[in-house]
This record gives sequence, C-alpha cells and structure tokens, in this order.
Amino acid sequence: MGIRVIILSDNVAAAPEFLGEHGLSIIVQTPGGSVLFDCGQSDIAVRNARLLGVDLRQLECIALSHGHYDHTAGLLPVLSVAGGKKVYGHPDIFLPRFFMAGGVKRYIGIPYSEKAVWSLSDGLVLGHEQREILGDIYLTGEIERIDEYTFIEPNLYVERDGELEPDDFRDDQALVVRTNEGVILVTGCAHAGIANTVKHVQKRFGKIKAVIGGTHLGLTDPAHIQSALHLLKEVDAEKLVLTHCTGIRLCGVLIQEFGERYIPGQSGMILDF
Ligand SMILES: [Fe+2]
Ligand SMILES: [Fe+2]
Repeated sequence: MGIRVIILSDNVAAAPEFLGEHGLSIIVQTPGGSVLFDCGQSDIAVRNARLLGVDLRQLECIALSHGHYDHTAGLLPVLSVAGGKKVYGHPDIFLPRFFMAGGVKRYIGIPYSEKAVWSLSDGLVLGHEQREILGDIYLTGEIERIDEYTFIEPNLYVERDGELEPDDFRDDQALVVRTNEGVILVTGCAHAGIANTVKHVQKRFGKIKAVIGGTHLGLTDPAHIQSALHLLKEVDAEKLVLTHCTGIRLCGVLIQEFGERYIPGQSGMILDF
C-alpha cells in the first residue's frame, strides 16, 4: 500500500453525491495509519467520508492548520463519529479571530473552547515546534518567514490580550508526509505565505514531490503571486493540487503555468502516491 490522500471537504465537490462548502479537510492514509488534517466548517467531511467508505474511527489523530472556522468548526462532528482522538495544533488556534471590512465585524475563529475540545478528544497537544505526529507525518510548527514577500491580509484580525491587531498567523502550520521520492506538502490556507511554507519545508525536508491544499494566493498582491508561481515552478512537483482559498480567479493562470500537473482540488478527490 502506498500513500493515499483524500479531500473530504473542499469548496467544490467532485461528483453530485459529494458535498462542498467553504472549507478544507484532508485525510492522509499511509501504511502506518491515517491522519486527518483540518475538518472543514460543518459535518460535510463526515458525510463525504461515509460516502467514500472512509472509517473515521480508524484515524490515529487529527491536526489543525490554523484557527479559522472553515478548518476547525467540523472538529466536533468529526470527533463525535471518530471517537476520542488526539488533536494537534498551535496554541494560538483558540485566539478570537475576525474579518473586518466596510464597518462589518464577523467572528471567523474556532467556535469551540479548549475545554470543549478536551472533553470530546483524547487530548489536545498544542505546540510551536515541528512535531512528528505519526511515522513520517509531521506538523511543521510555526513557518519561518523567509520569502521576500510576506503578505498581511488587511481584513483579517486576531485578538491578543484584548487588543485587535492584523493577524500575522503565527498559528499557521502545514502537514508534511515523507516518502522515498520527496515529501507531500499539505497546506491549510497557507496564510504564512505559500512561498514561505514551501521554502520552510524545503529547508527542513528537501525535495517536495507534491503540494496539496489552500494557498490563499489569489487574495494576495500581484508581486507575491508572481514570485510564488516562480518558486512553485522551481519546486517542479509532480502534482499541484491547489484548492480552497487559492481562488477560482487563478485557475486559468495555474493551467497555463503548470499544465496537467495542476489539479484543481474537490471534495471526494482521491490522490494516490
Ligand atoms: Fe480557509
Ligand atoms: Fe484561513
């Protein structure tokens, strides 16, 4: 058995029986066990898993990329089916987060308290550092800001010590799966910057075989998009399954730049390595 990556929740669905939502949830299945990375924003990951014949009770653990609701609100529906599992993330995932624009302030953080997650899970493991959460599967820890462009999105805020400030997403982490031919990099929203994330992972793990997940790229500035595309070309991964917050406006550019190596992700998609 090789490595199988299944998108359980994404903005778009692959076939009529699957459901889509603004969210992301990806299961990584390896011979050593399965890890769920993010849970989407509802019970859609659970429903799509059932349709795909994926038994969430077999999960070894769950990891959360960052605190936004579209990656974390599905956690309790997942735990209620999967049973008690360990949940990994950064301590900042529980900070209140907001979208603010045009006089509107909307809560977009995790809708659960630490206490609620503790009560349903097999424990919450919060940390800043890189951690191996299952054999050859790693959470990156905080992503080093090493790229020339680090984009701070103007509408996204975090509340620290009672003060609202532009969100610098210290909590943003990626999942890395080691294989004999390089690593599979799985991102949540890549709010730390997809270029920073790629460089961080290359520096610590070497060759990147595939990139799967959200990139937030379409929402950043043109200079960042250009430099990130340039970097992704250099990476020369065999598959770029860029999805979720990558944004449909970038699809045409990605097809032009990467041809068949670019695969728009969808709920229900199965990728074998
Ligand atoms: Fe997201
Ligand atoms: Fe996000």
